[in-house]
Amino acid sequence: MNFDPKNYRIDASEKIRGEIRYTNDLKIPGLWQSITIRSPYPRAKILEIQFDSEFDWNTVTVVTASDIPNNYVAMLENDMPYLASKIVNYVGEPVALITAPDKNLLERASNFLHVIYEPLSYLTNMLDSEKSEVLIFSNNNIFKEIKIEKGDLEKIKQNNYKKVEIEVHTGFQEHLYLEPQCVIAIPEKDRVVIRGSLQCPYYVKNAVETMFDGKKHITVIHAPTGGAFGGKEDYPSLIAGHAALLAVKSGHPVAVTLDRFEDIQYTPKRHPSYHHEVAYVDKNGKIQGLEIQMYLNGGAYCTLSQVVLARAALTVTGCYYVPNVRIHAKAVATNIVPSGAFRGFGGPQAVFAIEMLMEKIACVLDLSPKKVREINLISKGQETATGQILKYSVSSQEVFEDVISRSDFDNKYRQYKEWNHPILEKLIEDRFPKNKNGGVLKGIGISASVHGAGFTGVGENKIKGVVRLELEQDGAITVYSAQTEMGQGQQTAFQKILSEALHIKRKQIKIAEVNTDVVPDSGPTVASRSTMVVGSLLVEAAKEIVEKLKLKLKNDFGVEFQYRQGYFYRDGHILSFTDAANEFGGFSVEKQYSHPSFIKFDETTWKGDAYPVFSWAAAVAEIEVDPITFQIKVTRYYTTHDIGKAINYDQAVAQIEGGSLQGIGYALYEKITEKDGLFDITGFSDYIIPSFMETPEFHIKILENPYPFGPFGAKGLGELPNVGSAPAIISALWMIFESEFNKIPVLPEDLHSIFLHINKRNYYES
Ligand code: MTE
Ligand code: MOS
Repeated sequence: MNFDPKNYRIDASEKIRGEIRYTNDLKIPGLWQSITIRSPYPRAKILEIQFDSEFDWNTVTVVTASDIPNNYVAMLENDMPYLASKIVNYVGEPVALITAPDKNLLERASNFLHVIYEPLSYLTNMLDSEKSEVLIFSNNNIFKEIKIEKGDLEKIKQNNYKKVEIEVHTGFQEHLYLEPQCVIAIPEKDRVVIRGSLQCPYYVKNAVETMFDGKKHITVIHAPTGGAFGGKEDYPSLIAGHAALLAVKSGHPVAVTLDRFEDIQYTPKRHPSYHHEVAYVDKNGKIQGLEIQMYLNGGAYCTLSQVVLARAALTVTGCYYVPNVRIHAKAVATNIVPSGAFRGFGGPQAVFAIEMLMEKIACVLDLSPKKVREINLISKGQETATGQILKYSVSSQEVFEDVISRSDFDNKYRQYKEWNHPILEKLIEDRFPKNKNGGVLKGIGISASVHGAGFTGVGENKIKGVVRLELEQDGAITVYSAQTEMGQGQQTAFQKILSEALHIKRKQIKIAEVNTDVVPDSGPTVASRSTMVVGSLLVEAAKEIVEKLKLKLKNDFGVEFQYRQGYFYRDGHILSFTDAANEFGGFSVEKQYSHPSFIKFDETTWKGDAYPVFSWAAAVAEIEVDPITFQIKVTRYYTTHDIGKAINYDQAVAQIEGGSLQGIGYALYEKITEKDGLFDITGFSDYIIPSFMETPEFHIKILENPYPFGPFGAKGLGELPNVGSAPAIISALWMIFESEFNKIPVLPEDLHSIFLHINKRNYYES
């Protein structure tokens, strides 16, 4: 990628020089450290908490459930306690907190605090959850159930269409942000100041204020955040509460810092999923009917599972037009760490499943996987499963055609099949070829993916995000919003949007620190919404600044001015934006978001406009498989993304690379095995993510099919690249082995054992 200097990132210099101060780097006088006492059981009764009298408890401060005014983390269901009081529901659930001036004392104190439990039977398999006698949530363990229906599926079933069926499983995924979870709470008289690594400052403020029953004013300051990927969407509300409780009780500033082990073991992961999909297809591979059952494993508490499920259910038909469809989706409870938001928010699971169904249709009907996708791609004017008619910026077909032609898919598909043939013959005969003479197996796979930009349904109308711009007399503009920078380039995008809207220099635009006492609530930094939704407010606000300045000029000069290219004009007179600001600056404007009026969605019937607009992508992955070690390597990765408009081109490309790589990890490396509610991973050494060695040659193209209500046409980008990469890679495995792959991740040992079951061609029954 050729870096264009005008695309520099605001935060780059400070980060590259190591000058930026993350939460744990802050030198706060009198800061106490803390330790969290956690449940060792997946489910147990808490009988007693014993304080051993050998220890001098006056030297530390302990917090238990009885210290908490409202003991629940305010979120969707309010079912998760800050500290368990009677029952623990997952391994690692916080039971007590201790803070002390130094770590040795903390360690000692924790050895003298004994929690007495009575272990209970527990539940970890999501498919057993509904029927289980172990009740974790409500009377059926269902956090949320969604039914979407369109057309007449029963009628389609009566016809003589081919029935193609698949079961698909996806695993956990850990965010592995570089900076583990960390917050600091500083107590004041009636207020607690919280500083931390987080995505949604107002979520934290609301949760901690609710916890204190409104008796404390909570100020949340967003500290530089070393990556989040959805993992700092809800979890900081829990540990900020812990830090605040300890700070208030001890009277000292307190840090809650998770080390890598705690972070990887006890914080939310991507929801594992199970799908059962049945398609009714005609002989050309066109889907006439589709029936989908989906489960997400939500873990012990609801947190965000209901909305993750909504996005998954609304994405599960992928990029395809399906005339008759029935979707039945459930998020269920188990005695595992609560699952949470992760880039794509249910989309990667849903798209993986439908893409594997496409592969299976191609196999059963002996059609090319490309053709089957092509014939089913949705287009402008068609209806989605919720009856949403796609009006704006629909590029499902363009991105697909583009990536097929740029990757030379058809030729390579044929060539690689021929190349593989003798190697496979030998492999199937001998199980292990005697030497490497046959070379590596070569695969090429494809996927189509989609991401609804912004909040689901009319969610944005509930949030009603607000931004404020302040124009100084020196011509500088400061942006006040609650959007947070976590590496995705939000600050830079905001600066570029405003400099473009006003035709002024980027340097003139400053981004205010995100402090809830100072910035308005522009909504959370999730759902790839900052650029599209909040960015559109910035353009509106910029227009209002110009109008205000024009009005002041008119009052002064008695004539109407025009504003063009950074200058105010009238006959014979010209003033730059800065000149005008020098004269009339020193005011602020505020803008509140409301959805374009055509967007209508009913959350009870699941009908209507699920998202204001969609971003589209297609990907082609080339892989090599070593026939001896079964190692899989992605060698080239082509993807075409329609994001409406790339506000900062270099950063958009970087998002696509990073998101795609996370999908490569999801498909091939990132395996978490859960046993008795315990994860088998401890840190970077045994949780393997793609490094530079595993990074393919990227061939990225951005299409700009503008969305009329986004800033300069921009739609959401941040999550989309993560949605389509796993299915493109696994599609390449189908191509090589002509066999069903319905589970991720696929590690070499998995591939080897799948291979042992492949004996001959034509594995499919019709
Ligand atoms: N990119 C980096 N570098 N770090 C992150 O934490 N989070 C992703 C994505 N890209 C993330 C990232 C997620 S989960 C989302 S929702 C979007 O960025 C949010 O950013 P936006 O609102 O600015 O689009
Ligand atoms: Mo992103 S998963 O919506 O934080």
